[in-house]
Amino acid sequence: MMQAKTPEQSKTILTDMVLPGETNPLNNLFGGELLARMDRAASIAARRHSRHIVVTASVNHVAFSKAVPLGSVVTVEAKVSRAFNTSMEVFIDVWIEDRISGARTKANEGIYTFVAVDDVGKPVIVPEILPETELEKQRFEAALRRKQLSLLLSGKMKPHEATELKAFFM
Ligand SMILES: CC(C)(COP(=O)(O)OP(=O)(O)OC[C@H]1O[C@@H](n2cnc3c(N)ncnc32)[C@H](O)[C@@H]1OP(=O)(O)O)[C@@H](O)C(=O)NCCC(=O)NCCS
Repeated sequence: MMQAKTPEQSKTILTDMVLPGETNPLNNLFGGELLARMDRAASIAARRHSRHIVVTASVNHVAFSKAVPLGSVVTVEAKVSRAFNTSMEVFIDVWIEDRISGARTKANEGIYTFVAVDDVGKPVIVPEILPETELEKQRFEAALRRKQLSLLLSGKMKPHEATELKAFFM
């Protein structure tokens, strides 16, 4: 049996600047560029957790709550929030840093699902996860509902099978 891991063991931090070629006409970071940075950090986190090749199975949620201006220092922090059999949910928090004070402000967040695969792309089992902090425990608890919602939306699960999701609305 594989040894369980903590979310902290998969933590991946990418810090970079917003350069002119990466912005929209309002001089804010282009959404697709941010998605790519989030995908990169999250895939490294999923790889650290599984120690396998991983592929993005779905982007479950992305909130672009705050624009990220040209020249900003952007930190993308990703951690596996829950591992199922072969899939992993990864939470990504995006922060920008004040140039003068260095204080961090949360700009965006996203939730991606990765699947660990072997050399021919066949899904393989991943270690369980043991959440430690209060936030990690909250994210772990809600992850099964999000998985069911994602499977429902992609047509891979029937509504009557989504028991945890249904229970949430009762
Ligand atoms: C993701 C992929 C490996 C799934 O393969 P599959 O044959 O559908 O395999 P399964 O049905 O056994 O699903 C594997 C796992 O993914 C999960 N999964 C599949 N689609 C999902 C979705 N839309 N949302 C959430 N989880 C999903 C399944 O629930 C299962 O999880 P579990 O084993 O932890 O219970 C396959 O569809 C694939 O290779 N897609 C292309 C990936 C890709 O190229 N990504 C972009 C570039 S990296």
